[in-house]
Amino acid sequence: MSTATVESNHSAALDAAESSAFARITVTMRVRRFNPEVSAEATWVDYQLEMDPKERVLDALHKIKWELDGTLTFRRSCAHGICGSDAMRINGRNRLACKTLLKDINPEKPITVEPIKGLTVLKDLVVDMEPFFQAYRDVMPFLITKGNEPTRERLQSAEERERFDDTTKCILCAACTTSCPVFWNDGQYFGPAAIVNAHRFIFDSRDEAAEQRLEILNDRDGVWRCRTTFNCTDACPRGIEVTKAIQEVKRALITRRF
Ligand code: SF4
Ligand code: FES
Repeated sequence: MSTATVESNHSAALDAAESSAFARITVTMRVRRFNPEVSAEATWVDYQLEMDPKERVLDALHKIKWELDGTLTFRRSCAHGICGSDAMRINGRNRLACKTLLKDINPEKPITVEPIKGLTVLKDLVVDMEPFFQAYRDVMPFLITKGNEPTRERLQSAEERERFDDTTKCILCAACTTSCPVFWNDGQYFGPAAIVNAHRFIFDSRDEAAEQRLEILNDRDGVWRCRTTFNCTDACPRGIEVTKAIQEVKRALITRRF
């Protein structure tokens, strides 16, 4: 390829990149606002923004907060789908704001953003996560072993590791638990995320407290409350087969094999 052709290709690529960088559209973000210090009622507020469709819902929320209304309150930390702090209900479905591109959720219509359901709203998009984390703590989400500390690492075959690989991916975003109709009706239910994190240890060959965890989940608020609606699997931003994990825990309770 001649130098002139390389340069012309390069310049065409730059032109394309520049024109797409400026392909902005007007987006209406319809956000559920709630401030208990101002009113007991939540209200929907519309914000018109100039956005690139390839930007994310989190970018739109930042733009509102930084340029239009600094009182808008939401959680986010990593902005890259790792910390799990920005799960919210976007166009009626639980998603991570930082992983949701505007172009994928029909930006020509108003995009609704509201808090995840089933947990008390503290302000705007921020909910009280304590009941969610209490259920997580209740299943003892850590390795439990008996006897003396080993003098070398605890060995595990690739097959044994594979047994619980899926459930290690959980980022505790609560998208699954707060999409579950059983949890909406009765916040006492442990919920999918706690069961996923119990699964992660129940099926770990190095762990020795599977029986204890199974008994905890045999409770009236445990796995038997699950109605297999698959909402949790659909909601999980990590692609974890949440319903399958719950079924495996149910089976382990019956067979006592894990
Ligand atoms: S299982 Fe998926 S949806 Fe549920 S808390 Fe973990 S990452 Fe979030
Ligand atoms: S901000 Fe961390 S997962 Fe979205």
